[in-house]
Amino acid sequence: MSRTVVVSGDWHLGEHDPHALGLAFDAWQKLQPHTLILNGDIIDCLDLHKSQQGTRVPVQRGRGTLHLGEEIVLARQVLKRLRKILPHTQIAFVEGNHEARYPRYLARQNPEAYQHLPTLPDLLGLAELDIHWQSYGVPLRVGNFYVIHGWKCNLHSCRTLVQDFMASAIQGHSHRLKAYPHTTPAGITYWGIEGGHLRNRRAAYTPTEWPQWQQGYVVLTETSPRHYTPTLVPIEGVNSTVAAVGSGSIVDTVHTGLLTSLKTAARKIAAARQAEIERSVNGRIFEE
Ligand SMILES: [Fe+2]
Repeated sequence: MSRTVVVSGDWHLGEHDPHALGLAFDAWQKLQPHTLILNGDIIDCLDLHKSQQGTRVPVQRGRGTLHLGEEIVLARQVLKRLRKILPHTQIAFVEGNHEARYPRYLARQNPEAYQHLPTLPDLLGLAELDIHWQSYGVPLRVGNFYVIHGWKCNLHSCRTLVQDFMASAIQGHSHRLKAYPHTTPAGITYWGIEGGHLRNRRAAYTPTEWPQWQQGYVVLTETSPRHYTPTLVPIEGVNSTVAAVGSGSIVDTVHTGLLTSLKTAARKIAAARQAEIERSVNGRIFEE
């Protein structure tokens, strides 16, 4: 059987869409990919955005928006669940610009102590879940594809991506699900791909009420040794009766397990929050 690689990012846990995430988890459990690449912005780190530090106008917090400690508790639950349903999958976590807020914030607040404080991979417990961490801006290579969270976000991001790499590449960041082929004079086609998202569609920082974002992820299928062909997998109809992935029976039955576990996580958050903050950052960055 040919190998498959799933690339999925921009969940923004805390601002995620639990139904879309549930659909994706269900599909991956059936697929049992060889590799799963979490392509950045898996957590939101809204607390650490410059706007929350008094340097800009604060971003409006949505109702139910989580604080950092709560996001981390939720992320640990979700990643644990992911490892449970994909026991044999090689998993990598590519740092996105939202995760990169954490080391930047610590370095700004306390440059001396920064090196001695726990890192985000420590807080997320990635080592015990056997999840590889890839630092921000450093592309991962999977066969003929590069994977990077990226920083470009315009109408032509996937086009500039493939032209920058001059190879097939997948980026997150734009929250769009889109592909641009570039064929060389020799007849080789490279793909620039924007990998969609699994967050909710209401974000305070978008200029329009309903941004041009598409929920979904990318599956790479190995068609010859170390050569992968891409498929964009949109997640549609979460609020209707049709889905592009999964078995058609959507949230109510198939995803009850995940939704229940997310609800349980949310209930535990209040109790765990204080202890988690004290354990994870020694209470220092939250003193003020
Ligand atoms: Fe994002």
